[in-house]
Amino acid sequence: MKQIFSGVQPSGSFTLGNYIGAMKRFVDLQTEGNCIYCIVNLHSLTVPKDPALLREYTMQLAAMYLSIGIDPEKAILFIQSQVPEHAELGWLMQCTGYIGELERMTQYKDKSEGKDVVTGGLLTYPALMAADILLYNTTHVPVGEDQKQHLEFTRDVAERFNRKYGETFVIPEPMIQQFGGRIMSLDDPTKKMSKSNPNAGSYIALLDDAKTIEKKIKRAVTDSEGAVRYDKENKPAVSNLLTIYAACSSESIETIVNRYEGRGYGDFKKDLAEVVVTTLAPIQQEYTRWMESPELSDILKKGAERASALATVTMDKARKNMGLVTF
Ligand code: TYM
Repeated sequence: MKQIFSGVQPSGSFTLGNYIGAMKRFVDLQTEGNCIYCIVNLHSLTVPKDPALLREYTMQLAAMYLSIGIDPEKAILFIQSQVPEHAELGWLMQCTGYIGELERMTQYKDKSEGKDVVTGGLLTYPALMAADILLYNTTHVPVGEDQKQHLEFTRDVAERFNRKYGETFVIPEPMIQQFGGRIMSLDDPTKKMSKSNPNAGSYIALLDDAKTIEKKIKRAVTDSEGAVRYDKENKPAVSNLLTIYAACSSESIETIVNRYEGRGYGDFKKDLAEVVVTTLAPIQQEYTRWMESPELSDILKKGAERASALATVTMDKARKNMGLVTF
C-alpha cells in the first residue's frame, strides 16, 4: 500500500499550475493508497505574512482541498502547525542537512536574490519539508517539477540519518508527471506559472471567473507558425497550452492535435478556454459552499488528531535513535 504525503502553502490564490501539477493528482491518488495532505502554514512564514491574512489563507486552502475532491473520510487533511512534531523533526533535519546543500537550492536562490533581508527559515525550508514527508513513513510524494530538488534533499538527509543513527526513515519517491509537472506562464513559456508573478494575466487562478479565463487565454502568447502542434523545444507556448488542454479534458495530446489540424490558434484558444472554465466551474461552486460550512474546522481538527497519532511514533523513534533522552 502506498503511503502518500503532499503539502501546499496557504498563499492566497492557487493557480492552474498548482492544480494540474499536483492537486488534481491528490484526488486520484485517494484510491491508490493512504493519503495525507497538509496545509503547510509554517512554510508560509519563511516570507513574513500578515497574521490575519495567514489565518484567512489557511482556511481558504482547506476549503480548496475539499472543493477539488479531497474526501476527509479517505484522506487525512490537516494544518502543519497543529502537529508540533513537524517543527521538532524539522530541527533534527537541519542538524542532519548541510548549509552547502541548502544554499544550492534554486528556490532559495530565486527567492533571496536581490532581497535586503532574508529569514533563516527561507534557507532551512527544505529541512522542514523533509520532516513533513519523513514523519509519515511516506513512500510517494506527488509534486510539481519545481519541488524535485527538495525531494532529493529529503532523500539525502533521510539516508544520511539512517546511516548515522540506524534505520529510522522510509526513503520517499517523488511522483512528478511527465506532462503537467511544470505548467508555464501564459505570457512567457520560459517561466513557471506562478501566483507571485505581478502580471495576473500570466496565470489562471482557480477562482478566476469565465470572462477572466477567456481573456487570459485569448491573450496567451503563441508563435508565428499558426499550427497546433506539440513541440516543447520549438513551440513552448503552444505546447504548454496543449498540456493544459489535455490535463483539463483528460484527452491525449495527440487527439487534440488531430482535432485542430489545419485550423488556427483562434479556434483552439476558444475551445481551450471552454475546457478550463468547465473544469473549474464545479470546483468554484463547491468552494463557496465549503467556505460557509461550519464543518471545516472540525475536519481539520480531526485530521490533526489522526496525523498526530502517526507523527508521534516516528518522532519517538527519531529522538531515541539520535540520543535525545526520553523517559
Ligand atoms: P507550493 O505551495 O508552491 O505548490 C503546491 C504544489 O503545486 C506545484 N506547482 C506546480 N506544478 C506544475 N506547474 C506549476 N507551474 C506549478 N506551480 C506549483 C508544486 O510543485 C507543489 O507540488 N514546498 C512546497 C510545499 C510543501 C510540500 C511538503 C510538498 C511543504 N512540505 C512536503 C510536498 C511534500 C511548496 O511550496 O508548494
